[in-house]
Amino acid sequence: MTKPLNVGMIGYGFMGRAHSNAYCQVNHFFDVPFRPVLKAACARNVEKLKAFAETWGYESIETDWRKLVERRDIDLVDICVPNNLHAEIALAAAQAGKMILCEKPLAMNAAEGQKMVEAVEKAGVANMVWYNYRRVPAVSLAKRLIDEGRLGRIFHYRAQFLQDWTINPEVPQGGTALWRLDVHAAGSGVTGDLLAHCIDTAMWLNGPITQVCAMTETFVKQRQHALTGKIEPVGIDDACAFLARYANGSLGVFESTRYARGHKALYTFEINGEHASLAWNLHDLHRLAYFDHRDEGKLRGWRSIHVTDHGGEHPYMDKWWVPGLQIGYEHTFIHQLADFLTALGKGELAEPTFRTALQTQKVCDAVLESARTRQWVEVAY
Ligand SMILES: NC(=O)c1ccc[n+]([C@@H]2O[C@H](COP(=O)([O-])OP(=O)(O)OC[C@H]3O[C@@H](n4cnc5c(N)ncnc54)[C@H](O)[C@@H]3O)[C@@H](O)[C@H]2O)c1
Repeated sequence: MTKPLNVGMIGYGFMGRAHSNAYCQVNHFFDVPFRPVLKAACARNVEKLKAFAETWGYESIETDWRKLVERRDIDLVDICVPNNLHAEIALAAAQAGKMILCEKPLAMNAAEGQKMVEAVEKAGVANMVWYNYRRVPAVSLAKRLIDEGRLGRIFHYRAQFLQDWTINPEVPQGGTALWRLDVHAAGSGVTGDLLAHCIDTAMWLNGPITQVCAMTETFVKQRQHALTGKIEPVGIDDACAFLARYANGSLGVFESTRYARGHKALYTFEINGEHASLAWNLHDLHRLAYFDHRDEGKLRGWRSIHVTDHGGEHPYMDKWWVPGLQIGYEHTFIHQLADFLTALGKGELAEPTFRTALQTQKVCDAVLESARTRQWVEVAY
């Protein structure tokens, strides 16, 4: 028997849709002890909110997130709004005793994130941050292979997240989706938006990053603000590249930009170990590339593992179709939700918790500080 879990969703944009889909689908595919009930959706534009609530089957709407957070019939608050609202909502939701699922990055900066961690831990409420790329089956398989020791000592970790949608200087800042270009709403540019994903995956796979040396650039210095209509300075980093040292002695190279013409959302990583290497690419997300030096010489080479097998060999895949058939981006949210609900049933927390996501926030802060000061920076854990 599944128990109902009443969800209050804040935000109906990109992530509001991705998460709503996960709440609708999770019980169809995963045997989890809870059944999400779409109790209420919240945003400020009533017409758009009503349309969203109708599309996804939310029972009610609220135009003020404070009312949603205080409602007695809400068990779990899902924060799918721009980064500058995460902390305020999370603190209020923790105070009200709600479970909290928060979009990434956890906060605008580590100081804010620290308060969020303290609030959820003091309130004793379940919490998780949607670093969803961990739940791509090929990425989860990479984690298993590393944990089994197949790579041996790890020497190198390199990751990129490349886009090209802000090259045109006429693209405004502020408002739906474009809040990412407004430093007051986003906190930072590609560092918090894209590299945060790379850093979360990197530390999950290869342990803590201890030191960073970064450079950032803002290629378009002024943009019209969509909400004020005024031309305003651009305060975010358009591009960021950094070097990193890991606690395990390996070296990291990370790069992200929204100015890589031809790339829409190319997240890639490669890990080189003593015995073997791994590589993954979001545009071919169901494949994991693997090279093992211990293979017989005449057969040695990069294998392309189609991560679709059943029987527990390939994470999550036995819950979907038949071997050989693929799944996509939206499934990562369903997997993460399934893990959260399973953990909740056992009285445990699913990763990454707010506390884990704070580590990523601290690396982001160190990256931005390094770019500002033009020096290596120790990550302040
Ligand atoms: N995990 C991922 O891969 C991923 C991908 C995209 C975005 N995100 C994160 O998700 C969050 C939301 O991003 P998005 O792409 O969905 O943005 P979006 O612009 O598509 O949607 C933002 C939503 O927030 C609502 N909103 C804004 N201010 C509000 C307020 N005061 N009260 C209530 N609602 C308000 C807007 O109406 C809109 O529905 C961000 O933190 C972002 O970093 C994560």
